[in-house]
Amino acid sequence: MSNLKGKHILHGNQFTKKDILSLIRLASDFEKELKRKAIIPLLRGRILATLFFEPSTRTRLSFETAMQRLGGGVISMGSIEGSSVAKGESLIDTVKTISQYADILVIRHPKVGAVSEAANATSVPIINAGDGSGQHPTQALLDIYTIYKELGSLNNLTLSLVGDLKYGRTVHALVEILSHFNIKLYFVAPNSLRMPEEITSKLKEKGIEIVETEDLISSAKESDLIYMTRIQRERFSEPSEYERLKGIFIIDNEFLKKVNKELVIMHPLPRVNEISPEVDFYKGAAYFRQVKNGLYMRMALLAKVMGKK
Ligand code: NCD
Repeated sequence: MSNLKGKHILHGNQFTKKDILSLIRLASDFEKELKRKAIIPLLRGRILATLFFEPSTRTRLSFETAMQRLGGGVISMGSIEGSSVAKGESLIDTVKTISQYADILVIRHPKVGAVSEAANATSVPIINAGDGSGQHPTQALLDIYTIYKELGSLNNLTLSLVGDLKYGRTVHALVEILSHFNIKLYFVAPNSLRMPEEITSKLKEKGIEIVETEDLISSAKESDLIYMTRIQRERFSEPSEYERLKGIFIIDNEFLKKVNKELVIMHPLPRVNEISPEVDFYKGAAYFRQVKNGLYMRMALLAKVMGKK
């Protein structure tokens, strides 16, 4: 039985290497099984609730699909405007209420730490689907599953993480998970959007080799994989600062020609302009495969947290 049973899933640092490998194995089993079956009814009769206080397409719909593919049911708070949050109800009271109906809750919130606070208020497992610029642990799990599938290994790899490393919660969670493996990292960001120092120094203490640079072409030439991210417009206090930085790194066919080597390109999506649509036809463009992997990985996580694997 997994040691994730009954646990809140809040931070990329909570997983052991064994947890990660076992989730990858289960996601892969589910992926194969879903080629033959429409559902794998391990969670029949269980209810998942989604509470999203920030926009989402993939995270919410993939969790809802994952629960239904496992035979469970889904309730969703729809819009904030349609709920008692609009009347001023607190997050804690909202979570305590929904805990009376559901067996597991998936929450996204704009404030760093808010999902952990909510988790302290209930014993029903809470999954952090993104807390401001904090963490996004389930994205990191589907990302590592994708890296493994695309490159066939999780060791002796060089990866470039590119874009908004300051506010991007996906990269904050991903590096925690990557830190279990023998991986060299390029952090490619403008000076004002560098990876927070406390994250970088912790990684270095763990023995991870890190190069911080603004030179995307050179780092791409050294890398097996590029993980692009969106400049997180909603986290900027100065709109002009966003305007200045939004086009800073762009991958298009011309860029790929200059790099002139086989590369895997990932992105948590949504993209704005960082990857030109023409790149979708490139063999290494993995971002829509990455979307699909999210379904399998979230199924694996739900099955483990609910104690069914
Ligand atoms: C990301 C997020 O919400 O943090 N999206 C996602 O979950 N796939 C990335 C982003 O919004 O840039």
